[in-house]
Amino acid sequence: MTRLDVKEVTVRFGGVTAVDQATISAEGGQVTALIGPNGAGKTTLFNVVTGLQKPTGGRVFLDGKDITHTPTHRRARHGIARTFQRLEAFGSLTVEENIRVAADAVRAKNAKPAQVTRGLIKRIGLERYADARADAVPTGVARLVELARALAIDPELLLLDEPSSGLSEAETESFGELLRDLASQGRAVLIVEHDMGLIMRVSDVIHVLDRGRLIASGTPAEVQADPLVRKAYLGEEDEPEDDEGPEDDDGHTLVLSAADPDDDTAAVPPTRPTRPTQPTPPASPIPPLPKGPGPQSGEPASGGWF
Ligand SMILES: Nc1ncnc2c1ncn2[C@@H]1O[C@H](COP(=O)(O)OP(=O)(O)OP(=O)(O)O)[C@@H](O)[C@H]1O
Ligand SMILES: [Mg+2]
Repeated sequence: MTRLDVKEVTVRFGGVTAVDQATISAEGGQVTALIGPNGAGKTTLFNVVTGLQKPTGGRVFLDGKDITHTPTHRRARHGIARTFQRLEAFGSLTVEENIRVAADAVRAKNAKPAQVTRGLIKRIGLERYADARADAVPTGVARLVELARALAIDPELLLLDEPSSGLSEAETESFGELLRDLASQGRAVLIVEHDMGLIMRVSDVIHVLDRGRLIASGTPAEVQADPLVRKAYLGEEDEPEDDEGPEDDDGHTLVLSAADPDDDTAAVPPTRPTRPTQPTPPASPIPPLPKGPGPQSGEPASGGWF
Protein backbone atom coordinates (compact mmCIF):
# COMPACT_ATOMS: atom_id res chain seq x y z
CA MET A 1 0.00 0.00 0.00
CA THR A 2 1.29 3.46 -0.91
CA ARG A 3 1.86 5.43 2.28
CA LEU A 4 3.69 8.42 0.89
CA ASP A 5 3.06 10.17 -2.39
CA VAL A 6 5.11 13.22 -3.27
CA LYS A 7 3.71 14.81 -6.40
CA GLU A 8 5.66 17.27 -8.52
CA VAL A 9 7.22 19.03 -5.55
CA THR A 10 9.37 22.07 -6.26
CA VAL A 11 11.43 24.02 -3.71
CA ARG A 12 13.20 27.22 -4.65
CA PHE A 13 15.59 29.14 -2.44
CA GLY A 14 15.91 32.48 -4.17
CA GLY A 15 17.53 31.66 -7.48
CA VAL A 16 18.38 28.06 -6.52
CA THR A 17 15.89 25.36 -7.46
CA ALA A 18 16.74 22.73 -4.84
CA VAL A 19 13.90 20.38 -5.84
CA ASP A 20 12.41 20.53 -9.30
CA GLN A 21 8.99 18.90 -9.81
CA ALA A 22 10.04 15.70 -8.06
CA THR A 23 7.54 12.84 -7.82
CA ILE A 24 8.36 9.93 -5.52
CA SER A 25 6.43 7.43 -3.44
CA ALA A 26 7.06 5.00 -0.59
CA GLU A 27 5.11 1.80 0.05
CA GLY A 28 4.34 0.14 3.34
CA GLY A 29 6.40 -3.03 3.77
CA GLN A 30 9.22 -1.72 1.57
CA VAL A 31 12.53 0.04 1.89
CA THR A 32 12.60 2.93 -0.58
CA ALA A 33 15.82 4.79 -1.21
CA LEU A 34 16.35 8.36 -2.30
CA ILE A 35 19.83 8.80 -3.70
CA GLY A 36 21.73 11.41 -5.66
CA PRO A 37 24.94 13.42 -5.64
CA ASN A 38 25.61 16.04 -2.97
CA GLY A 39 23.26 18.99 -3.25
CA ALA A 40 20.73 16.99 -5.30
CA GLY A 41 17.87 18.06 -3.00
CA LYS A 42 17.39 14.91 -0.91
CA THR A 43 17.34 16.55 2.52
CA THR A 44 15.20 19.38 1.19
CA LEU A 45 12.66 16.85 -0.07
CA PHE A 46 12.68 15.12 3.34
CA ASN A 47 12.03 18.50 4.94
CA VAL A 48 9.02 18.95 2.66
CA VAL A 49 7.64 15.52 3.63
CA THR A 50 8.02 16.25 7.35
CA GLY A 51 6.67 19.78 7.06
CA LEU A 52 9.88 21.63 7.94
CA GLN A 53 10.08 23.14 4.48
CA LYS A 54 7.16 24.62 2.59
CA PRO A 55 7.24 23.58 -1.05
CA THR A 56 7.09 26.26 -3.74
CA GLY A 57 4.83 23.90 -5.67
CA GLY A 58 3.44 20.37 -5.65
CA ARG A 59 1.67 18.24 -3.04
CA VAL A 60 2.40 15.62 -0.40
CA PHE A 61 -0.03 12.81 0.44
CA LEU A 62 0.07 10.41 3.37
CA ASP A 63 -2.20 7.41 2.96
CA GLY A 64 -4.00 9.33 0.23
CA LYS A 65 -4.64 12.35 2.45
CA ASP A 66 -3.24 15.69 1.37
CA ILE A 67 -0.85 16.81 4.13
CA THR A 68 0.92 19.55 2.14
CA HIS A 69 -0.19 22.19 4.64
CA THR A 70 -0.39 20.03 7.77
CA PRO A 71 1.85 21.34 10.57
CA THR A 72 4.94 19.32 11.45
CA HIS A 73 3.77 18.12 14.86
CA ARG A 74 0.52 16.83 13.40
CA ARG A 75 2.37 14.88 10.76
CA ALA A 76 4.30 13.22 13.60
CA ARG A 77 0.99 12.27 15.18
CA HIS A 78 -0.10 10.83 11.84
CA GLY A 79 2.85 8.44 12.06
CA ILE A 80 5.75 10.17 10.30
CA ALA A 81 9.13 10.08 12.06
CA ARG A 82 12.59 10.96 10.86
CA THR A 83 16.25 11.14 11.69
CA PHE A 84 18.49 14.02 10.70
CA GLN A 85 21.62 14.17 8.59
CA ARG A 86 22.95 16.52 11.27
CA LEU A 87 22.46 14.83 14.61
CA GLU A 88 19.67 16.18 16.76
CA ALA A 89 19.93 14.11 19.95
CA PHE A 90 19.93 15.96 23.29
CA GLY A 91 23.64 15.95 24.15
CA SER A 92 23.30 16.43 27.89
CA LEU A 93 20.85 13.54 28.30
CA THR A 94 21.86 9.91 28.36
CA VAL A 95 21.12 7.61 25.46
CA GLU A 96 18.30 6.03 27.46
CA GLU A 97 16.84 9.41 28.43
CA ASN A 98 16.87 10.55 24.81
CA ILE A 99 14.78 7.58 23.77
CA ARG A 100 12.54 7.89 26.83
CA VAL A 101 11.72 11.53 26.01
CA ALA A 102 10.41 10.40 22.63
CA ALA A 103 8.49 7.47 24.13
CA ASP A 104 6.93 9.81 26.70
CA ALA A 105 5.90 12.25 23.99
CA VAL A 106 3.46 9.71 22.62
CA ARG A 107 2.23 8.38 25.95
CA ALA A 108 -1.20 7.72 24.50
CA LYS A 109 0.39 5.23 22.11
CA ASN A 110 2.97 3.87 24.53
CA ALA A 111 1.19 2.65 27.63
CA LYS A 112 4.55 1.77 29.14
CA PRO A 113 7.20 4.21 27.93
CA ALA A 114 9.94 2.73 30.16
CA GLN A 115 9.32 -0.70 28.68
CA VAL A 116 9.24 0.66 25.14
CA THR A 117 12.53 2.46 25.80
CA ARG A 118 14.24 -0.66 27.15
CA GLY A 119 12.88 -2.73 24.26
CA LEU A 120 14.31 -0.30 21.70
CA ILE A 121 17.70 -0.16 23.44
CA LYS A 122 17.89 -3.91 23.16
CA ARG A 123 16.58 -4.10 19.62
CA ILE A 124 18.95 -1.46 18.24
CA GLY A 125 21.86 -2.89 20.23
CA LEU A 126 22.48 0.14 22.45
CA GLU A 127 22.72 -1.64 25.83
CA ARG A 128 26.40 -0.77 26.22
CA TYR A 129 25.67 2.95 25.79
CA ALA A 130 22.35 3.29 27.64
CA ASP A 131 23.83 5.36 30.50
CA ALA A 132 26.31 7.34 28.42
CA ARG A 133 25.64 10.97 27.59
CA ALA A 134 24.44 11.28 24.00
CA ASP A 135 27.21 13.78 23.21
CA ALA A 136 29.87 11.32 24.39
CA VAL A 137 29.06 8.38 22.13
CA PRO A 138 30.62 7.80 18.69
CA THR A 139 28.79 9.35 15.73
CA GLY A 140 27.57 6.00 14.43
CA VAL A 141 26.04 5.18 17.82
CA ALA A 142 24.45 8.63 18.02
CA ARG A 143 22.77 7.91 14.69
CA LEU A 144 21.34 4.71 16.15
CA VAL A 145 20.07 6.74 19.13
CA GLU A 146 18.25 8.97 16.64
CA LEU A 147 16.78 5.90 15.00
CA ALA A 148 15.61 4.55 18.37
CA ARG A 149 14.00 7.92 19.15
CA ALA A 150 12.21 7.87 15.80
CA LEU A 151 10.99 4.33 16.45
CA ALA A 152 9.71 5.26 19.90
CA ILE A 153 6.69 6.85 18.26
CA ASP A 154 6.07 3.61 16.36
CA PRO A 155 5.94 5.39 12.98
CA GLU A 156 4.27 4.10 9.87
CA LEU A 157 6.53 6.19 7.67
CA LEU A 158 10.16 6.38 8.76
CA LEU A 159 12.55 8.77 7.03
CA LEU A 160 16.27 8.28 7.58
CA ASP A 161 18.76 10.87 6.33
CA GLU A 162 22.20 9.25 5.94
CA PRO A 163 21.77 6.93 8.92
CA SER A 164 24.78 4.73 8.23
CA SER A 165 27.49 7.36 8.13
CA GLY A 166 29.84 6.70 11.04
CA LEU A 167 28.95 3.00 11.26
CA SER A 168 31.61 0.34 10.76
CA GLU A 169 31.20 -2.23 7.99
CA ALA A 170 29.87 -4.85 10.44
CA GLU A 171 27.49 -2.32 12.04
CA THR A 172 26.26 -1.30 8.59
CA GLU A 173 25.57 -4.94 7.81
CA SER A 174 23.35 -5.40 10.87
CA PHE A 175 21.81 -1.99 10.26
CA GLY A 176 20.72 -3.22 6.82
CA GLU A 177 19.05 -6.23 8.44
CA LEU A 178 17.28 -3.93 10.88
CA LEU A 179 15.94 -1.85 7.99
CA ARG A 180 14.55 -4.95 6.28
CA ASP A 181 13.04 -6.02 9.57
CA LEU A 182 11.36 -2.63 10.11
CA ALA A 183 9.87 -2.76 6.61
CA SER A 184 8.70 -6.33 7.09
CA GLN A 185 6.49 -5.07 9.93
CA GLY A 186 4.57 -3.06 7.33
CA ARG A 187 6.29 0.28 7.76
CA ALA A 188 7.31 2.42 4.84
CA VAL A 189 11.03 3.11 5.22
CA LEU A 190 12.45 5.95 3.13
CA ILE A 191 16.20 6.28 3.31
CA VAL A 192 18.72 8.80 1.99
CA GLU A 193 22.17 7.23 1.80
CA HIS A 194 25.51 7.58 0.09
CA ASP A 195 26.56 4.00 0.90
CA MET A 196 25.65 2.36 -2.39
CA GLY A 197 26.46 -1.13 -1.13
CA LEU A 198 23.86 -0.79 1.63
CA ILE A 199 21.31 0.83 -0.69
CA MET A 200 21.59 -1.84 -3.35
CA ARG A 201 21.27 -4.60 -0.75
CA VAL A 202 18.27 -3.36 1.20
CA SER A 203 16.13 -1.30 -1.17
CA ASP A 204 13.03 -2.47 -2.99
CA VAL A 205 12.77 0.74 -4.97
CA ILE A 206 15.28 3.52 -5.59
CA HIS A 207 14.53 7.09 -6.65
CA VAL A 208 17.45 9.09 -8.02
CA LEU A 209 17.60 12.87 -7.80
CA ASP A 210 20.13 14.96 -9.66
CA ARG A 211 20.19 18.71 -9.29
CA GLY A 212 16.64 18.65 -7.95
CA ARG A 213 15.19 16.52 -10.72
CA LEU A 214 14.08 12.93 -10.54
CA ILE A 215 16.19 11.18 -13.18
CA ALA A 216 15.28 7.55 -12.45
CA SER A 217 13.05 5.31 -10.33
CA GLY A 218 13.14 1.54 -10.22
CA THR A 219 14.60 -1.57 -8.69
CA PRO A 220 18.30 -1.57 -7.73
CA ALA A 221 19.10 -3.47 -10.94
CA GLU A 222 17.16 -1.02 -13.11
CA VAL A 223 18.71 2.01 -11.49
CA GLN A 224 22.25 0.65 -11.74
CA ALA A 225 21.78 0.04 -15.44
CA ASP A 226 20.30 3.47 -16.10
CA PRO A 227 22.66 5.59 -18.23
CA LEU A 228 21.40 8.85 -16.70
CA VAL A 229 22.21 7.57 -13.21
CA ARG A 230 25.67 6.43 -14.22
CA LYS A 231 26.27 9.78 -15.77
CA ALA A 232 25.09 11.65 -12.68
CA TYR A 233 27.32 9.59 -10.39
CA LEU A 234 30.30 8.84 -12.52
CA GLY A 235 30.21 11.40 -15.24
CA GLU A 236 29.99 8.64 -17.80
CA GLU A 237 28.74 9.57 -21.22
CA ASP A 238 28.69 5.89 -22.16
CA GLU A 239 29.44 2.58 -20.49
CA PRO A 240 33.10 2.45 -19.49
CA GLU A 241 35.17 0.32 -21.87
CA ASP A 242 37.57 -0.62 -19.11
CA ASP A 243 36.29 -3.61 -17.11
CA GLU A 244 37.83 -2.20 -13.96
CA GLY A 245 35.56 0.82 -14.11
CA PRO A 246 36.54 4.39 -13.38
CA GLU A 247 38.81 5.12 -10.47
CA ASP A 248 38.57 7.82 -7.89
CA ASP A 249 41.47 9.94 -6.66
CA ASP A 250 42.58 7.23 -4.26
CA GLY A 251 42.66 4.62 -7.01
CA HIS A 252 39.56 2.81 -5.68
CA THR A 253 37.26 1.43 -8.31
CA LEU A 254 33.98 3.27 -8.13
CA VAL A 255 31.12 0.83 -7.80
CA LEU A 256 27.53 1.83 -8.08
CA SER A 257 26.36 -1.68 -7.38
CA ALA A 258 26.32 -3.85 -4.30
CA ALA A 259 28.60 -6.84 -4.43
CA ASP A 260 27.02 -9.65 -6.39
CA PRO A 261 27.14 -12.71 -4.11
CA ASP A 262 27.81 -14.95 -7.10
CA ASP A 263 30.69 -12.88 -8.36
CA ASP A 264 34.00 -13.18 -6.52
CA THR A 265 35.40 -10.20 -8.35
CA ALA A 266 32.62 -8.00 -6.98
CA ALA A 267 33.94 -8.11 -3.42
CA VAL A 268 34.86 -4.46 -3.58
CA PRO A 269 34.03 -2.52 -0.44
CA PRO A 270 31.14 -0.16 -1.02
CA THR A 271 32.36 3.27 -1.90
CA ARG A 272 30.69 6.62 -1.71
CA PRO A 273 31.30 7.93 -5.16
CA THR A 274 30.13 11.45 -4.54
CA ARG A 275 31.29 11.85 -0.97
CA PRO A 276 35.01 11.14 -0.69
CA THR A 277 36.69 11.52 2.69
CA GLN A 278 37.42 15.17 3.35
CA PRO A 279 39.49 16.96 2.26
CA THR A 280 39.90 14.89 -0.92
CA PRO A 281 38.33 16.86 -3.77
CA PRO A 282 35.00 15.42 -4.98
CA ALA A 283 35.26 12.68 -7.57
CA SER A 284 31.92 13.69 -9.03
CA PRO A 285 32.21 15.87 -12.09
CA ILE A 286 28.96 17.56 -11.11
CA PRO A 287 29.83 20.89 -9.56
CA PRO A 288 28.07 21.33 -6.22
CA LEU A 289 25.34 23.90 -6.37
CA PRO A 290 25.98 26.94 -4.22
CA LYS A 291 25.13 26.33 -0.57
CA GLY A 292 22.75 28.61 1.19
CA PRO A 293 23.59 30.50 4.35
CA GLY A 294 24.91 28.47 7.25
CA PRO A 295 26.81 25.21 7.31
CA GLN A 296 23.67 23.04 7.31
CA SER A 297 21.35 25.14 5.21
CA GLY A 298 19.24 22.15 4.21
CA GLU A 299 18.19 21.58 7.79
CA PRO A 300 15.92 23.95 9.59
CA ALA A 301 15.44 23.53 13.32
CA SER A 302 13.77 20.23 14.05
CA GLY A 303 10.68 21.67 15.70
CA GLY A 304 10.27 18.70 18.00
CA TRP A 305 10.86 15.81 15.61
CA PHE A 306 11.90 12.53 16.98
N1 LIG B 1 17.85 27.00 3.36
C1 LIG B 1 18.47 27.03 2.18
N2 LIG B 1 18.74 28.20 1.55
C2 LIG B 1 19.36 28.22 0.36
N3 LIG B 1 19.74 27.12 -0.33
C3 LIG B 1 19.50 25.93 0.24
C4 LIG B 1 18.86 25.83 1.52
N4 LIG B 1 18.76 24.49 1.83
C5 LIG B 1 19.31 23.84 0.80
N5 LIG B 1 19.76 24.68 -0.15
C6 LIG B 1 20.39 24.32 -1.43
O1 LIG B 1 19.53 23.38 -2.06
C7 LIG B 1 20.28 22.39 -2.72
C8 LIG B 1 19.88 21.00 -2.21
O2 LIG B 1 20.37 20.85 -0.89
P1 LIG B 1 20.08 19.54 -0.03
O3 LIG B 1 20.69 19.78 1.30
O4 LIG B 1 18.65 19.22 -0.09
O5 LIG B 1 20.90 18.44 -0.86
P2 LIG B 1 21.22 16.93 -0.48
O6 LIG B 1 20.85 16.11 -1.67
O7 LIG B 1 20.60 16.57 0.82
O8 LIG B 1 22.82 16.98 -0.39
P3 LIG B 1 23.81 16.12 0.55
O9 LIG B 1 23.98 14.78 -0.11
O10 LIG B 1 25.08 16.92 0.50
O11 LIG B 1 23.24 16.05 1.93
C9 LIG B 1 21.75 22.75 -2.50
O12 LIG B 1 22.16 23.50 -3.58
C10 LIG B 1 21.70 23.59 -1.26
O13 LIG B 1 22.78 24.47 -1.21
MG1 LIG C 1 21.37 15.98 2.63
